Amino acid sequence: MSSSENKPERTLADLGVTRPDQVVSLFGEVRARFESQVSRPLDQPNWEILRQAWLGRKSGVLTQIGDNWLKPATLELKRAVGASLNELRAHVESQIEARRLAIESGAEESALARERVDLSLPGVIRPIGSHHLIRQVFQEIEDIFVSIGFSVVEGPEIETPYYNFEALNIPEFHPVRDDMDTFYLELLKGAPTPLLLRTHTSPMQIRTMEKQKPPVRVIVPGKVYRRDNPDATHSFIFHQVEGLAVDTDITFCDFTGTIDYFVKQFFGPSVKTRFRPSYFPFTEPSVEFDVSCIFCGGSGAAAGGGTCSKCKGAGWIELFGAGMVDPAVYGFVNYDAKKVSGFAFGMGIDRLAMLRYGIDDIQVFFQNDVRFLSQFP
Ligand code: FA5
Repeated sequence: MSSSENKPERTLADLGVTRPDQVVSLFGEVRARFESQVSRPLDQPNWEILRQAWLGRKSGVLTQIGDNWLKPATLELKRAVGASLNELRAHVESQIEARRLAIESGAEESALARERVDLSLPGVIRPIGSHHLIRQVFQEIEDIFVSIGFSVVEGPEIETPYYNFEALNIPEFHPVRDDMDTFYLELLKGAPTPLLLRTHTSPMQIRTMEKQKPPVRVIVPGKVYRRDNPDATHSFIFHQVEGLAVDTDITFCDFTGTIDYFVKQFFGPSVKTRFRPSYFPFTEPSVEFDVSCIFCGGSGAAAGGGTCSKCKGAGWIELFGAGMVDPAVYGFVNYDAKKVSGFAFGMGIDRLAMLRYGIDDIQVFFQNDVRFLSQFP
């Protein structure tokens, strides 16, 4: 302890103490110091050191207080110092005597033994968690697209109807909105625009194109929301990865080639892809991509005879929607529809993960059952 910390070595005048209430708080500090020292486990030699430090006649703390605080104190302070010193002395003496008795009775020894660290004991091993399967699948998809020049961007889950619908060529009252019913936020009266939980990651097509000029090559992983009733393949929260590529010379061949490359990387080289006409207001033409069934190898037959239950004998499984960006969308982001072209896609990650790992109920992704999660370390 430095001498500046040991206040009993200095006089009250030196410490700037002029009022009785300051005396009381000064004694409070000294008492707290004593408490912290006397409460530690002690053996006999350390008890003796403690006793000398506090009660030693020549330079114990109580003697110092008598010499430096009490004797030179002004008349006004003498009473307060005297009373506090008597109280402190009684406390210190009784506590030190109590510790002596505890040491003699052997209680101290077991307290010391309890505090001793046994370095030979094995450490506590805390199990390390792992990424959720959905996060792992996101990562895999990101790696595949990053390796062919895409970058990853993320966007808000709370959107305006403009980005979620209108700028994607889905005007109010368009029937497609019925399939994308969602959760609107309750806002204060006079709020500038309604807000909703995004129904798909497609709003990020608009936000990205607003921010940057072509060439654009991004994927957008994220959570989306719909008022769908939960069942084995539907959840009201699920995950998508949006993809968007726009440049001056992107063709339908680039589009199907990119998707085929991705599917082969993700499911394996023997998997085939096909596309069928579909409809999305923001792509033209629009397609639905299918993969040859990963469970029956595309034959439609189950291994033990009968039809494959996963593809119901079709040999194909629907994968996701996509298409060439509709020129109308370019109008919302000030791109020249005559000069640029591109493609977009939106994959449902939960269903992709179900296919890849043979999981037959989407709800397991949201139940956080460790017995399920730990199968995907
Ligand atoms: C869309 O969401 C479009 N935005 C996709 C798109 C993007 C098309 C870019 C063209 C260009 P769709 O509503 O089909 O499309 O949803 C895409 C995928 O999300 C589906 O294929 C499916 O895998 C998944 N999905 C849809 N609803 C649910 C649900 N309730 N639970 C789990 N997955 C769902």
